[in-house]
Amino acid sequence: MAFHLRHARWRDSYTLWVWHNEPSTLTQFASTSPVPWREHVDWLTEHVANPDTQLYIAEDHYQPVGMIRFDTSDGWETASVSYTVARESRGREYGRLLLTEGVRELLKRVYQPHLCATVKLDNAASHACFAAAGWRRDSVAAAGLVSWHLSLKGSYEQNPS
Ligand SMILES: CC(C)(COP(=O)(O)OP(=O)(O)OC[C@H]1O[C@@H](n2cnc3c(N)ncnc32)[C@H](O)[C@@H]1OP(=O)(O)O)[C@@H](O)C(=O)NCCC(=O)NCCS
Repeated sequence: MAFHLRHARWRDSYTLWVWHNEPSTLTQFASTSPVPWREHVDWLTEHVANPDTQLYIAEDHYQPVGMIRFDTSDGWETASVSYTVARESRGREYGRLLLTEGVRELLKRVYQPHLCATVKLDNAASHACFAAAGWRRDSVAAAGLVSWHLSLKGSYEQNPS
């Protein structure tokens, strides 16, 4: 099967851990310290079963190439987005695809949340992905961070399952 998303499962634990702790990825997160394995397992235990999180793995021909996660704290009125492409798979448009297909998957489950993301100012690849995926860059930039948002009204088809 070509590029597609599926829900993250337990067997993705190690892959997600390696992706998160990869140095060029860590530098783009708020906390830049590597996450210990035990802490990662506890985090995944909580998030895989949490209705306030949607965590997807992207595969291309059954090879995992990236992840995208949506989190809400207000019943999916709003949600934040975090995503990563495996280092060896970067530069092949998976970042943009993760954003567009991730939103499509999310909309099968929740009704048009307002989506937002915070990106470090120097993360040129991520800014390019959000722009290419049709997100809007907010004018407010604080402490080396830029926020992006996506208004979903009419942009993607609602497809409840
Ligand atoms: C950001 C990230 C997801 C991009 O993934 P990717 O698959 O390499 O991105 P794509 O191949 O879809 O590239 C999308 C755009 O970024 C541009 N781009 C890719 N790498 C770039 C780089 N290092 N510098 C500048 N632009 C870059 C591409 O040219 C493309 O732009 P275009 O559409 O104008 O041609 C990936 O670099 C990553 O996982 N980084 C570490 C984690 C991270 O930063 N996550 C996002 C936190 S907000």
